[in-house]
Amino acid sequence: MSNDLEKAAAARAAVEYIEEGMIVGLGTGSTAAFAIREIGKLVAEGFELFGIPTSLRSESLARKLHIPILSLDSAERIDITIDGADEFDPYMQLIKGGGGALLREKIIAYNTEKNIIIADHSKKVSRLGAFPLPLETIPFATSQIKTILEDAGLKPELRMDDDQAFLTDEGNYILDINIGHVSNISMLEDELLHIPGIVDTGLFLSTTDIIIVSSGEEVEIIERHP
Ligand code: A5P
Repeated sequence: MSNDLEKAAAARAAVEYIEEGMIVGLGTGSTAAFAIREIGKLVAEGFELFGIPTSLRSESLARKLHIPILSLDSAERIDITIDGADEFDPYMQLIKGGGGALLREKIIAYNTEKNIIIADHSKKVSRLGAFPLPLETIPFATSQIKTILEDAGLKPELRMDDDQAFLTDEGNYILDINIGHVSNISMLEDELLHIPGIVDTGLFLSTTDIIIVSSGEEVEIIERHP
């Protein structure tokens, strides 16, 4: 089964959690796009819901599909968010931000009642870190931050978009760092967030409630136990 078929199967399973009238966070990336298209089908069938996109890209897809959009500040709650991930581990910890939307994704996830992550089998890892960890940084501070991270052995790379620095939806830069050798991820997260100019990291350590991972013909649902 191709990764796309697996992504589509996970997206279909996630959309089943949506109920009439819900406010739904719309994730970013190729897997989340499958979910947005499924949500578009619900809307076309007359289902009432509102979407809150985690990126301009997802907003544009949702608008094409006529999904009613709410802004974060006009929503009194977010019932469910369906988003993808670059990696997830057995503790439901994630690396996100491969698509550059980590900051808005993290804000939406933090404010969501039930966060559902959808993934094909390639995203499941025994420990995080094969995928570079994105950090969203203020342009003014980025070269100093890069030096600090180089000195710490984290091999930062400024993300590029052709020959320009990649710009996030908030107008910030991204430094991708290598955390493959780091054993205490939550300590790293704390240390990174103490460096002025790092706005946020792509580590999502405790926001996920459900992971739906599709592997071949199987769809596995992993739920967080309180
Ligand atoms: C977007 O910024 C990311 O967090 C995505 O959720 C993540 O990169 C997964 O993307 P794909 O579904 O395209 O692999």
